[in-house]
Amino acid sequence: MDFEGKKIIITGGASGIGKAITEGVVEGKGHAIIVDMNMDTAETVRQHLGKENVSCYKANLADKQATREVFSKILEDFGQIHGLVNNAGVVSTVPFEQVTQEEWDKVIAINLTSVYTAINVLFPSMKANGYGRIVNVASVAAKRGGGLLGTSAYAASKAGVIGLTKAVAREGASFGVACNGVCPSLTLTPMTAGMPEEKREKILATIPLGRGANPKEIANVVLFYISDLASFVTGEISDVDGGVTMDG
Ligand SMILES: NC(=O)c1ccc[n+]([C@@H]2O[C@H](COP(=O)([O-])OP(=O)(O)OC[C@H]3O[C@@H](n4cnc5c(N)ncnc54)[C@H](O)[C@@H]3O)[C@@H](O)[C@H]2O)c1
Repeated sequence: MDFEGKKIIITGGASGIGKAITEGVVEGKGHAIIVDMNMDTAETVRQHLGKENVSCYKANLADKQATREVFSKILEDFGQIHGLVNNAGVVSTVPFEQVTQEEWDKVIAINLTSVYTAINVLFPSMKANGYGRIVNVASVAAKRGGGLLGTSAYAASKAGVIGLTKAVAREGASFGVACNGVCPSLTLTPMTAGMPEEKREKILATIPLGRGANPKEIANVVLFYISDLASFVTGEISDVDGGVTMDG
């Protein structure tokens, strides 16, 4: 896909699905801007893909103020941002009764509030430029109430992401700002690497394709939405889930 001349931010772009998106942006000759809390892995990705093709910014997206500051700084440094992929996230796997207030707040802060903050900082400038492509990574958990990998806090945060995606799409459409979402199911990344074998087997049994996704398979759909190939698509939530959801 062609990203020549485009500057695209990827949160969590240092690992898993985010890393595959970063690689796709650079393959398409765009400039990838990673926002991540782990600068070791981000720098490794940068070295690998070429320093001139990737920039790295450190932020803990659980911290609202730090999140606002980092996106403001990026905007100041780059002038125009063409694309934003809100991909960073954390999973929560405990049953509802064991979800503490602290865990709830953390999951909502990283998975949902940071998505609001990032878009809130960038939206006015995308609107002024008449161009913006936003993609939010939700999860199959948002549509099913969890149950595969993440549970209630995770499902609620990702369902919030879907609502936010559609609202931003609605308000951005007449200004050239598109906003779409993807809902992956089990994807083979560091997030899922430590999962007990028994749980993995149970999850795989619910996926018609019978396997977990390679991160690139999720990235391909995100990259499509970030690219101009998706010029007539906004407010769409794509299941990239091996056939789990199959809704209308
Ligand atoms: N892996 C799956 O099976 C799966 C399934 C459905 C949805 N997802 C979603 O896909 C997205 C990417 O997941 P992944 O599997 O690639 O995860 P991952 O754990 O491999 O990578 C997540 C990245 O986000 C960064 N990150 C996490 N918390 C952060 C914070 N507070 N501040 C800044 N950076 C932070 C990490 O440092 C890491 O680089 C997440 O939103 C996740 O919920 C994943």
